[in-house]
Amino acid sequence: MPKNDFPVQGRLVVVTGGSRGLGLAVGRQLAEKGANVVIVARDHDRLTQGIEHIRQGASNPKTQRFHQISADLTLAPEAVRVINEVVSWNSGNPPDIVWCCAGISRPRLFIDTLVSDFGAQMNTNYFTGLHMVHATLKCWLKSSPKDTLNEPGAQLSTPPLARHIIFTSSFLAFFGFAGYTAYSPAKAAIRALADTLSQELGLYAAANPHEPHVRVHAVFPATIQGQALDIENEYKAGITKKLEEGDAPQAPELIATKALKALEGGQEIITTDILTSLVRRSMLGGSIRGGVLAAIWDWFLAGIMAFVMILVRGDMDKKTKEWGRKFGASGNKHDA
Ligand SMILES: NC(=O)c1ccc[n+]([C@@H]2O[C@H](COP(=O)([O-])OP(=O)(O)OC[C@H]3O[C@@H](n4cnc5c(N)ncnc54)[C@H](OP(=O)(O)O)[C@@H]3O)[C@@H](O)[C@H]2O)c1
Repeated sequence: MPKNDFPVQGRLVVVTGGSRGLGLAVGRQLAEKGANVVIVARDHDRLTQGIEHIRQGASNPKTQRFHQISADLTLAPEAVRVINEVVSWNSGNPPDIVWCCAGISRPRLFIDTLVSDFGAQMNTNYFTGLHMVHATLKCWLKSSPKDTLNEPGAQLSTPPLARHIIFTSSFLAFFGFAGYTAYSPAKAAIRALADTLSQELGLYAAANPHEPHVRVHAVFPATIQGQALDIENEYKAGITKKLEEGDAPQAPELIATKALKALEGGQEIITTDILTSLVRRSMLGGSIRGGVLAAIWDWFLAGIMAFVMILVRGDMDKKTKEWGRKFGASGNKHDA
């Protein structure tokens, strides 16, 4: 049996944006794999329909449990309320996995976009995830300022399963184009948050080695079939539609299946189609290169830098963990 880095059977997964689209497909497939699932979105009726659809996929309906919570996650206190409600619904235990899928896109040309709309899209596409993950990590990490099992001689028979945070970004985090000036930056910010947070969490893992480690992942879907896309298309300028010609939207179920497979394989940065996986490897994305010679030079240095960055990231992760081991999880010497 290949190793599964993302076991979900009997574990509790919270899926934001789980009432429709990709979040709903994710919730259903998690239920089919034996997970207990809580979905979060704003609309009550869609939540009720969504949780029923997810429940019908349960591999063991007698033992699996399902719940829905209505909340507007652009508001930070709502994310805290969601986590508190999940913990009390789950007999005082926090969730094991939080998958942030909530998000919307309203593509218009830059000057046709109201200034307030940039904030609204940042709120929905970036801050819903940030609020949810902040509330979750406060709950997961608060318990152990100093790990007593860390003392010499202390033993834990089996290491606890890792907990997981999964963000949902987009192809447009790697390659922005006309019409997405409000959406692409929010999705690129998610990528930066995931990269940065995954390193910071090494501090807690090192300071509290007997607590479940937290792994951070980000999924980068390309276009998703469904109602969200139909609504998006009503906003799009002709040039945006022209630039997207030839795009083949994927079914949310297919994206969910591919994302779950990648998580089980232990991947952090997850793409679900060939084009996005290729663009991911062009680190400058859609940025202007400055001509063919500059592009060749970039290509040459990119080959070298790919290896250098493995060392740089590895060195910074090592320093973070050493610090955690020596001085604890506060990140400051005087608190050790
Ligand atoms: N559609 C695409 O082509 C595409 C491509 C790449 C990436 N993505 C990303 O993939 C994710 C899923 O996309 P999708 O097409 O499946 O979207 P969708 O069908 O529109 O579903 C969005 C979900 O997010 C919830 N939601 C929206 N705002 C919320 C808020 N403020 N608080 C809580 N829940 C909220 C919605 O429910 P309520 O409205 O009831 O709250 C719904 O459950 C999003 O992050 C999207 O940005 C989409």
